[in-house]
Amino acid sequence: MAQRTVYLETFGCQMNELDSELVAGQLRALGYAFTTDSQSADIVLYNTCSVREQAEQKVWSRLGELKSRKQEQPGLVVGVLGCLAERDGIDLIKRMPVVDVMCGPGELDKLPSLLDNAVRTRLEGTESETGKKKEPVSAKQVALQGNTSRRSATLAAAEDSLELLDLSRSVSPTDHGGTAYVRITRGCNKFCTYCVVPFTRGAEIHRPPEHIIDECKRLADAGVIEVTLLGQTVNHYRFEHGAAVTLGGIVQPQKGRAYTGGHRADPFRGAGVTTFADLLARIHDEVPGIQRLRFVTSYPRDFGDDVLQVIRDHPRICRYLHVPAQSGSDRMLKMMNRGYESSEYLEFIDRARSSLDQPEIGRPLMISGDFIVGFPTETEEDFERTIQLVERVRYKNSFIFKYSPRPGTVAFDKIPDDVPEDVKRRRNNTLLAVQARISDEIAREQVGRTFDLMIEGVSKQEQKRRGATHGQIRKNNAVMLTVGGKGMNPDDADSGCGSGCSHVHGASETESGIGSHDETVQLAGRTDGDLIVFVEARSETAPAMIGRILPVRVSSADKLVLRGEVV
Ligand code: SAH
Ligand code: SF4
Ligand code: F3S
Repeated sequence: MAQRTVYLETFGCQMNELDSELVAGQLRALGYAFTTDSQSADIVLYNTCSVREQAEQKVWSRLGELKSRKQEQPGLVVGVLGCLAERDGIDLIKRMPVVDVMCGPGELDKLPSLLDNAVRTRLEGTESETGKKKEPVSAKQVALQGNTSRRSATLAAAEDSLELLDLSRSVSPTDHGGTAYVRITRGCNKFCTYCVVPFTRGAEIHRPPEHIIDECKRLADAGVIEVTLLGQTVNHYRFEHGAAVTLGGIVQPQKGRAYTGGHRADPFRGAGVTTFADLLARIHDEVPGIQRLRFVTSYPRDFGDDVLQVIRDHPRICRYLHVPAQSGSDRMLKMMNRGYESSEYLEFIDRARSSLDQPEIGRPLMISGDFIVGFPTETEEDFERTIQLVERVRYKNSFIFKYSPRPGTVAFDKIPDDVPEDVKRRRNNTLLAVQARISDEIAREQVGRTFDLMIEGVSKQEQKRRGATHGQIRKNNAVMLTVGGKGMNPDDADSGCGSGCSHVHGASETESGIGSHDETVQLAGRTDGDLIVFVEARSETAPAMIGRILPVRVSSADKLVLRGEVV
């Protein structure tokens, strides 16, 4: 088979970014090549998000653009992966006949065979030996979970072949910059009434701790110094060793079970159970090469004191919590099925602050949140409560979303979307303004403090100054941490990429992006509390600073922009 080139674009959350990385690794191993130029690709894949309508719109417009291209290039293989594929199911192909392959996030281990079939029927079907184009055979390749992931009530998620995809991860130094994601749980069991994730990602599954620690070790050996553990309710992690099932020599992930951890430590901690606290401590102690350990996203409940204590006692665990509240109104929280009241949320925030907030040693606790405005029936009074909560918690930043009804969710079926669009927009802008003021105040409080800063790369602004386009910036940032591979975009990881940006999986690059003609270059780094600080460096020394953790004193804060100097 001729080598096929793949263009893979990723929308949505970090979970999707990791999925794309794993899929790309697997396809590369099978001989596919990757390109950042969609026009020259034989196969175009979109790894999609379905969390809000806006996220889906982007994919629809991309697919719309492919219509005419497919007429000119009938062999083109188009695949929709991820949450939109799972949520929309076969309807997606009916609406968009350009789509040949559909693969839900719970079925990604099957993607290579789906693609192989599609390439054989579509691509190779159009290449006749005489050189004359034939009409392609239309055979759709589909792998979706439907409801199967929730059918079994047993504790073991046996036959979880998706685990093999995580285990197959390629961790060569060229694939990874200084930073990487590691999945600890998949899926979600919370069923917040507005949310598609429990339907698209399936039941909550917890990976065996040995698999997670081994993955962290392999990443550290490949030069990764920062790991972000991923889960929709990451602090809900819990693995019962007595109930572990081994299949084909591989310990199987487990289905999540309801437990009432609450504020107290898990009573089974140490008794054959690896709790989230245990997992953090083990990764910290057993993988010293990981200099920064983060985790997202935390659920406000189930955050025992044991977790806070482990974070406090283990210096390489970051003082950063992303704990979405969604609303400050108890009535809204109830309708959203969040399972806590605002007083409980605030109690947790106070507990976390009293234990983890240590600005005197350069480690203030930074908290970020998510909010939905305009949830059905939300009144001005409900919204006022949200503002009060934001003022009280003082988030470093918040991701603020207008409620978007999602087909298949309880809210979509049972609660009419009755807050007018202009009211949603106004509340969104009001809350954004409140948050911007608080973020600015927090930024100013940092002036004079010295932080350990992980230098992630040339700042986006600097790259723009040097004439890079948005695409190049992302591509370049992907290589800034070291050489080749993917990384986080230094200065806009907070911009809510789920709704703002998409990411292209490209061939490895080796350019540093730092020209020798300029005297200084602006680098972007991150504190362990996830604050972004810009540092000016001399062009000659800048490349050696990237990917390292350096002490930096913050010298100024202006409109959320922190600047500092290496001390
Ligand atoms: N598991 C995470 C969030 C995952 S989705 C948690 O529970 O915190 C990311 C964010 O998208 C959510 O926190 C919520 O604020 C937002 N979101 C989810 N569904 C939405 C919807 N239907 N409309 C608007 N925002 C939504
Ligand atoms: Fe969605 Fe709620 Fe699960 Fe988060 S916890 S993924 S908001 S259902
Ligand atoms: Fe992530 Fe979007 Fe799916 S936020 S879990 S990719 S719906």
